[in-house]
Amino acid sequence: MPITELDGEIQRRRTFAIISHPDAGKTTLTEKLLLYGGAIHLAGSVKSRKTQRHAVSDWMEIEKQRGISVTSSVLQFDYDGFRINILDTPGHQDFSEDTYRTLMAVDSAVMIIDVAKGVEAQTKKLFQVCKQRHIPIFTFVNKLDRFGKNPFDLMEEIEQVLGIRAYPMNWPIGVEGNYTGVYNRKLAQIELFQEDGSHGQNILPSTKGGVDDPAFREILGEEVHQSLCDDIELLDAAGDAFDQELIDKGELTPMFFGSAMTNFGVQNFLEEYLRLAPPPAVHASTVGDIEPNDERFTAFVFKIQANMNPAHRDRLAFIRICSGKFERGMSVYHDKSDKMIKLAQPQQFLAQDRTIIEEAFPGDIVGLFDPGVFGIGDTLCNTDAKLRFPDFPVFPPEQFARVQAKDTMKRKQFLKGITQLTQEGAVQLFQQPDIGTESYIVGTCGTLQFEVLEYRLKNEYGVDIIMQHLPYEVARWIEKDGEKLTPYSLRGADRAMFVLDSKERPVLLISNEWAIRWIMENNPDVTFSIVPPDRSNAME
Ligand code: G4P
Repeated sequence: MPITELDGEIQRRRTFAIISHPDAGKTTLTEKLLLYGGAIHLAGSVKSRKTQRHAVSDWMEIEKQRGISVTSSVLQFDYDGFRINILDTPGHQDFSEDTYRTLMAVDSAVMIIDVAKGVEAQTKKLFQVCKQRHIPIFTFVNKLDRFGKNPFDLMEEIEQVLGIRAYPMNWPIGVEGNYTGVYNRKLAQIELFQEDGSHGQNILPSTKGGVDDPAFREILGEEVHQSLCDDIELLDAAGDAFDQELIDKGELTPMFFGSAMTNFGVQNFLEEYLRLAPPPAVHASTVGDIEPNDERFTAFVFKIQANMNPAHRDRLAFIRICSGKFERGMSVYHDKSDKMIKLAQPQQFLAQDRTIIEEAFPGDIVGLFDPGVFGIGDTLCNTDAKLRFPDFPVFPPEQFARVQAKDTMKRKQFLKGITQLTQEGAVQLFQQPDIGTESYIVGTCGTLQFEVLEYRLKNEYGVDIIMQHLPYEVARWIEKDGEKLTPYSLRGADRAMFVLDSKERPVLLISNEWAIRWIMENNPDVTFSIVPPDRSNAME
């Protein structure tokens, strides 16, 4: 069978997200990958970033202020014939649905670990999502230019804490955490660090050579050289064998040591990643598996964001293409509204630079202007496909607050803002019956979302809010056969709050799991669910 244009485009695509604990080096590594891909010419180095230059991938004001990534950005660039899509995941402490959704749109993930800190809490949470999806995970152990943990201990940690075997692709050279280079296991070569004092703004060559080269024995010193040889012997004898099948299933992680800041090991990592990582995957749908080279166009919405750039006041829906070819101006079937939609101004991104795209292929992410019709998880497809991808799981909210506009004259803007942010999936909205639109109850999965809500309402809608945190930790959607439930329908629920969700379904906000059990015992004829009744898939 001749290789079609579609096949060729699919084979060269790699779509992934970088997951890490804050400060492990995600922004720096992303920048360096862009630098190697020629997408930027000078990486925003540690120094210049502190002054005026911000990393290409964090574009929102709040991110600049707080130095964290709050929203996911999408970056596309080419390297050696490959087309790479990097989806940036928020790296803050609070795990948000946004992060989860981003991971639904990738074919593999890169996990960054700080060599001195090992596996940290946030990495663990994000990693669990990747593991559930059985996508390949590549590990980059960063900051090798600094004092770090013993590499065997790090391998052990990955295996113990994350439950995945690790295959080191290279190995740090040095003793007691003082590393001067790496040994490339595939090429059986030593590569030594080089620094030019530019903090990695430039691409640097490295010094390479065979492990038996006497020159290296001399440069490294007898002790370091011998310890390297011993480590390699031990790895070869006792470590896991390289197994592409296990990597594809996400059961073995290729592990790389390097330093994003000094560029050390970045190019080698990129090249090996591109060689080992999979092209766009098959997606399960209501009519069976959809191969990416299926000629019919299919995609799903994984993220919606309003006011991404103050210069463009608009709402964008980000879609991940699963199969077929996307062409500007094409009309597609939107399952939720049961309507045809013309995709007139598709956009691709390099941070604030938007470009209108003419075509895109499976694995690509495209931003579409959203007149308010798209929802997270919606399917878009050709009329001859008419299928649906599974709904995204719902995250039960865990924190609640009452919010209202400080200035009652701003009620209209407040309502608009809070409705839009709810549609984006940033927060979940509830209302107490008979209280009107003066105040709302919002539910989130973490504290940071409240801050983001406050910040965005102020900056994008000009509304200052009053926020009062509520002492509830769990929400339960409640149903009873043939009865319209009211705040007075339940026994023993005096301390819970009765609210309605955005579709007017009754929900109970409760202080803790113990209280839920009590209420459930007192109301055996009521059904309690952790997600809305029309959604069966919840993330615990
Ligand atoms: P993140 O996106 O994962 O949160 O991490 P980011 O890249 O912002 O890096 C966090 C800090 O770690 C930064 O320092 C960055 O320069 C530093 N860093 C990243 N890679 C390396 C590395 O390979 N070696 C060393 N030694 N440091 C590295 P910072 O002082 O917070 O910088 P800035 O962002 O305030 O300029």
